[in-house]
Amino acid sequence: MPKLTIEGAGEFEVPEGKRLVLALEQEAGIDQLHACGGHARCTTCRVEFIAGEPDRMTVAERDVLAARGLAGVRLSCQIVCDHDMTVRAISRLAGSGRKDAGHEPAAQIEPPAEWVEK
Ligand code: FES
Repeated sequence: MPKLTIEGAGEFEVPEGKRLVLALEQEAGIDQLHACGGHARCTTCRVEFIAGEPDRMTVAERDVLAARGLAGVRLSCQIVCDHDMTVRAISRLAGSGRKDAGHEPAAQIEPPAEWVEK
């Protein structure tokens, strides 16, 4: 099983192929924001990679990051845990002023993943 390391939180075994946004919440217990419910629209599921950043990204992730002028972050709702990764959880419910983290993302990437090189 891939290992997910979160700065300041520890190391966690994650089922192969699980969406990173769900692993952050369910395996690591992080209060990760995902305001749009994992649809590559809000960017609140963003994380910073320390190691193991995926070489590919979905078209949806590429487009929303470009539209918002974001660099140096990746969208955890658009990433699957298929190798070891180390991330910084920089977008969390605590201190956000939001009433909740957002709708629970589905098990599979939405919209259906179309992969491109990063
Ligand atoms: S972009 Fe909204 S949860 Fe990922």
